[in-house]
Amino acid sequence: MDSCATIARYGHRLSATACLDLDSREPMADKLRDDYNTRRVTMATQTASVTPWIQISDYSPENWTAERARACCDRLESNQILFFARPPFPFSGTDRAYFLAQKSSDSRLHKNVSYRPASDVLRGFGGDDRSSRLMHDTMRNYSLQVVGFVKNLLTPYASKLQLDYASFRPIEEEGRDLPLHKRNDLLHVDAFPSRPTRGGRILRVFTNISEKARVWITTDRFPALAERFAREAGLPKIAATSGWRGVRHLLHSVGVPIPDRSAYDEFMLYFHDWLKENSRFQSECVKEQIDFPPMSTWLVYTDGVPHAVLSGQYALEQTFIVPREALVKPQVSPIRVLEELAGAVLAG
Ligand code: SIN
Ligand code: FE
Repeated sequence: MDSCATIARYGHRLSATACLDLDSREPMADKLRDDYNTRRVTMATQTASVTPWIQISDYSPENWTAERARACCDRLESNQILFFARPPFPFSGTDRAYFLAQKSSDSRLHKNVSYRPASDVLRGFGGDDRSSRLMHDTMRNYSLQVVGFVKNLLTPYASKLQLDYASFRPIEEEGRDLPLHKRNDLLHVDAFPSRPTRGGRILRVFTNISEKARVWITTDRFPALAERFAREAGLPKIAATSGWRGVRHLLHSVGVPIPDRSAYDEFMLYFHDWLKENSRFQSECVKEQIDFPPMSTWLVYTDGVPHAVLSGQYALEQTFIVPREALVKPQVSPIRVLEELAGAVLAG
């Protein structure tokens, strides 16, 4: 067995141990816990420096304080995953049963269903008017509940959050036959070709509504990855285009119909593909496996936490764009990490 496979196996074993530790230290269970240091020591000999998640067990909309909300933003922005054992927003057994009854073999469902809250539009679900209306209503309700929850959990973001798409993922992820750049079983950081963020961050809320675990792998977080690979992946060349992109942005903002993508967005899109194409990185990087149990919910900045989903079926997800001015720790955001490395402004 090669050393990478050994590390991956250790990663799996250690992550299982850490989860047990979290569960067994009940006196701490009602606190927002950061076991980062413990895990760094535990894992020092395996060189991994990631932590599986921070479990939150005491959240309720009534008792949440500004201090706790800010601490959650801080942890998320530091590329940690916040974990809830059950959905922390209203989600009925009826809705779960409805989603689980959708069979991926059904011709109406051959890919993910998406819902756009800003325009109230459902995509990716065929079928007659009645069944489309039911899916639309159920997705709208899910999205509304998650938005309400996130605004309450992360109050520093509440007034500035941009609602992106929600999705229902009914397809088994293991063995999906997708083109390379669309494969989600390869490690990557997220970037959306049609929705540039200009340095805003991509926050996603997942709920595993299946009866089996959803299995992810992660590796070192964005700052370490960028430090190691950004130059090789073409950051200097893309940073050099920042000037004319700035001019285009100004023209675009006064109504000239030209494409408007910042150097930051260009690099993040390129890096997404570059990581997936890089078989050496995919096979040799340190990996940690995370098994998200049935009915767990997790929040994660997927532009800062490289991830791949190895298996799992039936998940719901809502995405938000958190603009730069809402971040509580902008100095560690991917745009700032890249600007530091490039010595240039990447979204003027
Ligand atoms: C992704 O790569 O963004 C998808 C992760 C998942 O569906 O669990
Ligand atoms: Fe992704």
